[in-house]
Amino acid sequence: SESGPTVCGLPLKYVSLVTLAVQNAALSIVMHYSRVSTPAAQSYSPATAVLLNEMLKGSISFVIAFLRIAYASDAPGLGVAGWFFAFRRVCQEVFSVDCWKLSIPALLYVIQNSLQFVAISNLPVATFQVTYQMKILTTAAFSVALLRKKLSSSKWISLFFLAIGVGIVQLQTASTRHVPANTPVGSAHDSAPLHIHIMSPLKGFGAVTAACFTSGLAGVYFEMVLKNSKADLWVRNVQLSLFSLPPAIFPIFFEPYHPAHGGLWANMLRNFGGWAWATVTIQVLGGLITAIVIKYSDNILKGFATSLSIVLSFLASVVLFGFHITPTFVIGSSVVLVATWMYNQPPGKELVAITSVIPG
Ligand code: C5P
Repeated sequence: SESGPTVCGLPLKYVSLVTLAVQNAALSIVMHYSRVSTPAAQSYSPATAVLLNEMLKGSISFVIAFLRIAYASDAPGLGVAGWFFAFRRVCQEVFSVDCWKLSIPALLYVIQNSLQFVAISNLPVATFQVTYQMKILTTAAFSVALLRKKLSSSKWISLFFLAIGVGIVQLQTASTRHVPANTPVGSAHDSAPLHIHIMSPLKGFGAVTAACFTSGLAGVYFEMVLKNSKADLWVRNVQLSLFSLPPAIFPIFFEPYHPAHGGLWANMLRNFGGWAWATVTIQVLGGLITAIVIKYSDNILKGFATSLSIVLSFLASVVLFGFHITPTFVIGSSVVLVATWMYNQPPGKELVAITSVIPG
């Protein structure tokens, strides 16, 4: 009964949700490690990472928008004339009269992406991930308020159970003594290199809470702009990245500048090593998948996908670090999975779906 585009025969809607869950798990781990594995004096600039993220995401979106137009049936064929046509068409669409609408989510996302660095540098990965799930509730609230979305009582119940499930998983992580599974080697939680990076949980919690609000508002706003117009998703993404550039460039002016280290780029890219590039790459991928998820499903469902990422990163630590699976974890993640599935049932089918899992 699923409609919409498919990937290898599977609905893009689900492929993108699962990919997003894996991406989220990878991002939290890699980003945290990239921040805490070096002393502050040798760490890279988060402002540069936020800017690079937007530049890369915008360029990729531009190429996709360009190729879609160049290969569209009404295009004048390939070759120089066709490419020129596609280039001009993308530019016309990007600089259309309503492009300003993207300035609001663009600013919110830049703030959010910067807050994420503060949060993940000051909290253990598991704590960050679980607390960041509060964005499911802020997103639901903004969806109801701005998109006039009506959530059936079964959807509210699913949200409630999702919060409970996440809480149970958190109990599990909090009582876990093997810190390295959630905090990669070299972080402040390891016994040896304690001097490396000092975390400030209060700062981390403040940042993550603020990020939950910008996430909910920006996501719903983007969904509103996307679904209330016929403009192409990739064109919207280019507009989003373009409006992100001024707020992303602004903080760069406040970064220390050392002429001895070379020019502006050399200064911006100081200490930008493999882990920093990995963080940016995973973020770019995440931004692109997020856009697809918002288009083909919705923001609330996106929240469920990312909550699955908690389960995924825990399972990864079972494989990588020899973690033990406990009953608490199994119960918590089962609640998350059932809530996700229940939220996704078509109207009127929820009860049938619930009764069909209860034997007898
Ligand atoms: O946590 P949340 O799902 O709100 O994060 C969304 C992320 O996806 C942000 O980093 C934002 O920059 C990115 N994004 C994007 N393009 C969109 C929508 C979101 O790059 N169209």
